[in-house]
Amino acid sequence: MTTTPKARCGVSITGIGSFLPPSSISNAQLETLVDTNDEWIVSRTGIKNRRVVSGNDTVADLAIAAAKDALACAGIEGKQVDLVIVTTSTADTIYPMVCALVQEAIGATSAAGFDLALACTGFVYGLVTAQQFIENGRYQTVLVVSADIHSRETDWSDRNTCVLFGDGAGACVLQANTTGQSDIVASDLRVDGSRGQFLTLGTLTQNCPLVAPRTNQNPYVQMNGREVFKFAVGSVPKSIQVTLDKASVTLDDVDFVVLHQANSRIMQAMAEKMGLPEAKLIIRFENYGNTSAASIPIALNDAVKDGQIQAGQRLMLCGYGAGLAWATALVNWHVVDHRSH
Ligand SMILES: CC(C)(COP(=O)(O)OP(=O)(O)OC[C@H]1O[C@@H](n2cnc3c(N)ncnc32)[C@H](O)[C@@H]1OP(=O)(O)O)[C@@H](O)C(=O)NCCC(=O)NCCS
Repeated sequence: MTTTPKARCGVSITGIGSFLPPSSISNAQLETLVDTNDEWIVSRTGIKNRRVVSGNDTVADLAIAAAKDALACAGIEGKQVDLVIVTTSTADTIYPMVCALVQEAIGATSAAGFDLALACTGFVYGLVTAQQFIENGRYQTVLVVSADIHSRETDWSDRNTCVLFGDGAGACVLQANTTGQSDIVASDLRVDGSRGQFLTLGTLTQNCPLVAPRTNQNPYVQMNGREVFKFAVGSVPKSIQVTLDKASVTLDDVDFVVLHQANSRIMQAMAEKMGLPEAKLIIRFENYGNTSAASIPIALNDAVKDGQIQAGQRLMLCGYGAGLAWATALVNWHVVDHRSH
């Protein structure tokens, strides 16, 4: 007996949102913590301020606020969401998972959920994962939330890292459509553990006291900045080309490239390598720092709110970072913003 294959569902990106904690730390304030200065930080990174959590704020708090913003943008209620994917590498608790806390807070009473830990590449992985579940007909409405709090994972006496990061969350709603067309046109997902040692974040977990203790643990972000720089500039342009080739388009057909917002030098070097005019880059990190998994949706949301990104445009999204991991997705942007600004 032959069966007719079921037509794949189309996928629409219908909402974008973000949330940043209110406390802002300037470069001048960092001068009171480490031997650094505004000129060094701005010339190497372009970062002037970064947002950080205070008190008992959690990754889930940021994620929930961003999720609600994205739902409002899509004009839907939380109870319509049937899958919650949270991408974070800095969850306050391993369990309950952050996805469960978001699910409860938005009232997604019949949703499934899981957390993905992919550091700064998490949002693009989350988006492509959501796409699979919608295309195969399993879920209709998927919420992808990316949130990270690096201010609690940073050694504030290490000037190599503490000036770079900030905290924040971004979110995106994806929904099934009947056209069979996907707003995520093509993608490329990669991971390479052979270079994992260049960017690490450990833990302070300890063995059973009846056996030898664990040693040499470092609970903070440690980075070989030059190697990470070389990796990103070497790998991301190639991944963008792979994705363009899959979609049979060129960079000229792309309106904006939204790179993970790590810093200005790294983004400029990538743009130069690709022959991409800087005007085609979305740049939104000056006052946020590197917000890890959240940086792409935060940049997207800001650019949607101020009109730089508009419906009908074609965007290339590129995450890269610890793992090492990197991921690229070509996206047709059709979001109609239902929020009142
Ligand atoms: C981190 C980074 C900005 C450093 O820039 P760089 O051009 O490699 O640094 P330079 O070689 O110009 O300077 C290094 C020197 O500055 C010093 N330095 C490092 N951080 C400093 C700071 N915050 N303030 C002042 N000096 C600093 C170093 O100690 C070193 O001093 P030394 O030469 O006496 O040893 C750059 O390597 C980078 O962007 N890497 C990628 C980082 C990143 O984005 N990671 C996250 C990806 S998800």
